[in-house]
Amino acid sequence: MAQDSPIVYLNGEFLPLDQAKVSVLDRGFLFGDGVYEVVPVYGGKPLRLAEHLERLDNSLRGIRMKSPLGADDWERIFNRLIVGVHDQSIYLQITRGAAPKRDHAFPKDTAPTVFAMCTPIAPIPASGVRAITVPDIRWQWCHIKAITLLANVLLRQQALDEGCAEAILVSDGHALEGAASNLFVLVDGVLLTPPKGHDILPGITRDLVVEIAQANAIPFEERRIALEELQRASEVWLTSSTREVLPVVELDGKTVGSGEPGPMWQRVNALYQTFKQQLRQGL
Ligand code: PDD
Repeated sequence: MAQDSPIVYLNGEFLPLDQAKVSVLDRGFLFGDGVYEVVPVYGGKPLRLAEHLERLDNSLRGIRMKSPLGADDWERIFNRLIVGVHDQSIYLQITRGAAPKRDHAFPKDTAPTVFAMCTPIAPIPASGVRAITVPDIRWQWCHIKAITLLANVLLRQQALDEGCAEAILVSDGHALEGAASNLFVLVDGVLLTPPKGHDILPGITRDLVVEIAQANAIPFEERRIALEELQRASEVWLTSSTREVLPVVELDGKTVGSGEPGPMWQRVNALYQTFKQQLRQGL
């Protein structure tokens, strides 16, 4: 049944998920040597596809791989994986392929492994979530959307173990982003998000929220966020393709603002939902 084993894409073929197999010599499996994308889909239409594909190209360039397919090919593949009009997301992963033997050095003439699947997006909790702050233990190229996610996995799990939904990563006294999300805070009535650089992933949802803020004359600054500012912020949000604009109502056991999703979140989230709705309707 389609529900039990959805159709996925693997190296040029469309096949049921339970039949999709890769070699144990795949460099994604052995080294985490690959990159990925997550593209939200509303009403059967991918959100900001061109931007996601541009980031994919940047990630591939960052790990010295060529894009195996062009924008039209990706679009064709994604359209075959999208089923129905419910909110869903495309997961796309490209690894440096399966070489004949395990060796850190790049293999010569090895075809990349290309995998894509589509999964439903769960609605975000409207009452907000709890988060913790943790030291950022990741590597120094966080702008690359690499599949090598051990630090992110450990930090997210630490948050879950403490009854929280996300870990906010702190480095050098500054809050950077979540383990799998970007960070916005409202401090003294000004919406802040850290600038793009090697220390955060350039989120597509982040860019959309920035655009919404600017188009609606919401006081906004792109600048570093001191931990102390995060701690006294009246609103804290996390953004990602699968969690949209997620309000944080408790940070490190302390209430954020009133303890409920704040008025600025209500406003920006409504604008974000309108944007999604227009995409669904093809406007
Ligand atoms: N993660 N920062 C990190 C470290 C992320 O992993 C993500 C997304 C983001 C938000 O980026 P975007 O708005 O483009 O989704 C920021 C995806 C959803 C994931 O790993 O599943």
